[in-house]
Amino acid sequence: MREPGETHAGGAAAVPFFRLDGVTKRFGGVIAVEDVVFDLWPGEVHALVGENGAGKSTLMKIVDGLYGPDEGMLEVGGEAVSFSSPREAEAAGIAMIPQELDLFPELSVAENLFVGRKRPRTRWGSLDWEAMQGEARTRLDALGVDLDATSTVKRLSAANQQIVAIARALVGEARAVIMDEPTSSLTEREASQLFGIIEDLTAEGVGVVYISHRLEEVFEISDRITVLRDGHHIETASASDLDVEELVRLMVGRPLHELFTRSASSPGEVALEVRGLTRDGEFEDVSFTLRRGEILGLAGLVGAGRTELAQSVFGIRPADSGEILVGGQEVRVRSPQGAMEKGIFYVPEERRSQGLVLPFSIKNNITLSILEASPGSASCRARSGRPPRGSPKSSRSGGRSSQIPLAGSLAEISRRSSWQRRWPANQGSCCSMSPRGALMSGLSPRSTVSWMTWRRKARPSCSSPRSSKKSSRWPTASW
Ligand SMILES: Nc1ncnc2c1ncn2[C@@H]1O[C@H](COP(=O)(O)OP(=O)(O)OP(=O)(O)O)[C@@H](O)[C@H]1O
Ligand SMILES: [Mg+2]
Repeated sequence: MREPGETHAGGAAAVPFFRLDGVTKRFGGVIAVEDVVFDLWPGEVHALVGENGAGKSTLMKIVDGLYGPDEGMLEVGGEAVSFSSPREAEAAGIAMIPQELDLFPELSVAENLFVGRKRPRTRWGSLDWEAMQGEARTRLDALGVDLDATSTVKRLSAANQQIVAIARALVGEARAVIMDEPTSSLTEREASQLFGIIEDLTAEGVGVVYISHRLEEVFEISDRITVLRDGHHIETASASDLDVEELVRLMVGRPLHELFTRSASSPGEVALEVRGLTRDGEFEDVSFTLRRGEILGLAGLVGAGRTELAQSVFGIRPADSGEILVGGQEVRVRSPQGAMEKGIFYVPEERRSQGLVLPFSIKNNITLSILEASPGSASCRARSGRPPRGSPKSSRSGGRSSQIPLAGSLAEISRRSSWQRRWPANQGSCCSMSPRGALMSGLSPRSTVSWMTWRRKARPSCSSPRSSKKSSRWPTASW
């Protein structure tokens, strides 16, 4: 464990690479961070932790030049600076890998690495694709990853997209790298590979800010840890002076044993059964049963077929063979609509792109799944060309955004249970891709996950004087 300022080479830096002093940032009436201090020394890993909405991403976006602070200052190398864009931060040696990756899915790996940067040109002035791909390969090799620089990013796994984002951040000569939840979609093996990259970076004197909810890895790689709570700085300490229990207490303001309470559940009859489900090239002969009141975890490495299996049960990519039984009756699920009619719901892995309509408010996102039941809701407003009410969903913290599709699903389920009585006594079951994820989002075994859907069906009550107009500033309802 190194002390701040003590480099790998044993020397000592005189000033931190960057320092935030008394920083406050407000969004309208929301105080995202208030009077926060934070610094990063060359060659250290400084973890930034806190609950969802604590202000971690906002604080680092200030360092990255995305936001200016309302109060307080940022110093780089002992000098006060004021960045007006991430490009200016990059020129000063600061790179950020954001929580929501900002890659261009339709472009290749190599093109992504050069977006917004000077690209190599041939002597005739056109883009030098070979040089770009060569440079991209060098960057990827330096990270020790075997990725084809010509692959289109949207075809890569979440883990490989994360690696492209890291490679992109390192194309400039970064002296400080901010990683915002880099391992949230990585397997343990891929996370260890990332830790190897971090070790190499710090050995070269690069400082790393590491934001993560995975506390065990925070202790594994950090030299210092800073805790934020409700936008306030709570503690900065050497990682060796803290343990998980103390860290959780600092993060949430109460001891660990008061945090997680597990309610006893006794699973009932079989709600969903899958027998020998197969989809060529994706998964083969999968069988399981899910009982009422039960959480069933589906574990496996990235690429093992968990998402494909879930999407198959939900009718997005129907299986080639096998059976699905709901309440003991065989059902044919050929579409998400059909799955929901049978009482099967799904919250997608890519919640921002598949589970939310980002320009819409939280309220309207949640009610999208019950449009038929809600005259005057989001789609009615969309059809009438009027903007949705309420704050845009995109202003929420990363973790909180993830909970909205779940709420939308629960809205549909509660509508069904109260109107159609298909769900006796709230006895839903939950099949989670990640049991830990389900528990961390506060799901109880009685909860049921679903996938929000957007129904096209127009209701007479939705009509408005403008609803017949074809053009609309807002997306029209379609999947
Ligand atoms: N652009 C924005 N407009 C309005 N409010 C915002 C905006 N960005 C963040 N906030 C609010 O500021 C607070 C801090 O958000 P931030 O994203 O920094 O939290 P976080 O610690 O990164 O959370 P998470 O762990 O969920 O990613 C939250 O209340 C959030 O809703
Ligand atoms: Mg965040």
